[in-house]
Amino acid sequence: MSLVNGKKIVLDAYKNKKAIGHFNFNNIETLKAILLACEEEKKDVIISASSSASKYISSIKLTAIITKEMASNLAPSINVCLHFDHGTIEECKEAINAGFTSVMYDGSEEEFSVNFKKTKELVEIAKKFNVSVEAEVGKIKGDKDLDNLSKPEEVKKMIETGIDFLAISVNNIHGKYPENWKGLDFKLLEKLSKENYFPFVLHGGSQIPEDQIKKAIKLGIAKINVSTEIQLANCEAIKSFVISNKINEDKNYDSRKIGEEGIKKMKELVIKKLKFFQE
Ligand code: G3H
Ligand code: ZN
Repeated sequence: MSLVNGKKIVLDAYKNKKAIGHFNFNNIETLKAILLACEEEKKDVIISASSSASKYISSIKLTAIITKEMASNLAPSINVCLHFDHGTIEECKEAINAGFTSVMYDGSEEEFSVNFKKTKELVEIAKKFNVSVEAEVGKIKGDKDLDNLSKPEEVKKMIETGIDFLAISVNNIHGKYPENWKGLDFKLLEKLSKENYFPFVLHGGSQIPEDQIKKAIKLGIAKINVSTEIQLANCEAIKSFVISNKINEDKNYDSRKIGEEGIKKMKELVIKKLKFFQE
C-alpha cells in the first residue's frame, strides 16, 4: 500500500473526466469493507474519517494509526489517501501531526473572509508536510437557498489560496435526500467549471440518481464523498440478520458474525460505486 496525499489522484481523475471515490468510515467494519473493495477492484481510494468519527473512535491519533495499519494489511497494492473530513483548523493541524495525508477544513459556518484566511493559513502548514487541502465554499444544505449555494466569485477567490480541491454547494445535501429534492444545480456547476479549471468535490454523494452523478463528473466533479449509503447498507444487512432470527443460531451472537453481515453488503456497495465513478 502506498500512502499518498490527494493531489495527484484527484487531479488525474479530473483530467480523465472520472471521479475518485471518497468513502467515510465510522468504525472498523466499515473501514475493512472499503479497503477490501478497493483492493479487489485495484482502485485507488480516499479513505476518510470525519472529526466526529475520530471522536467516536476516541482520538484523531488512534484513527490514523488504525487506518494506516489496516490499509497496509488489507489493501497492499493500491494508493490510499488518508483524509480528515469536515474539521476545524485545530483538528486539521492535529490530523496532519497524526499522519493524515489530506485534510478538509470546513469553514462553511464562517464569514467568507474568515474562511478564506484560515484556509490560506492551513495551506501553508499542510504544504510543509506534503498534505493536500480541501476547502468548502457555500454550505452543503441544498434546498436552493441562495445563501447556501456556492458563490462564483468566492469559488474563484478560494482557489487562489493554493488548495488542491474544493467542496462546492450545488444543491447537494448530506444524509438522505428528501422526496421533493429538486436535483443538482447543473447551471451553477457548469458556470463554476467554465470559470475555473479546477477539481471540485461533491459532498452528500449518497442517493443522487446515477444520471446526475455522470453529468456532474463530466462538469468537473472529481471526488465524490459517500457515507450515508454505506451506513444504510450496513444497517439493512444487520437488520435482516436479526429479523430472520439467524442471530439466535449457533454462536451468531458473536459480534464478528454480526459485523461480517454488514461488511459483505458495504463491500458490494463500494465496488458498485467505484466502478460507476470511473466508468
Ligand atoms: O463528507 C462526507 C459526505 O459528504 C458524505 O455525505 O453521508 O450524504 O453520503 P453522505
Ligand atoms: Zn461532507
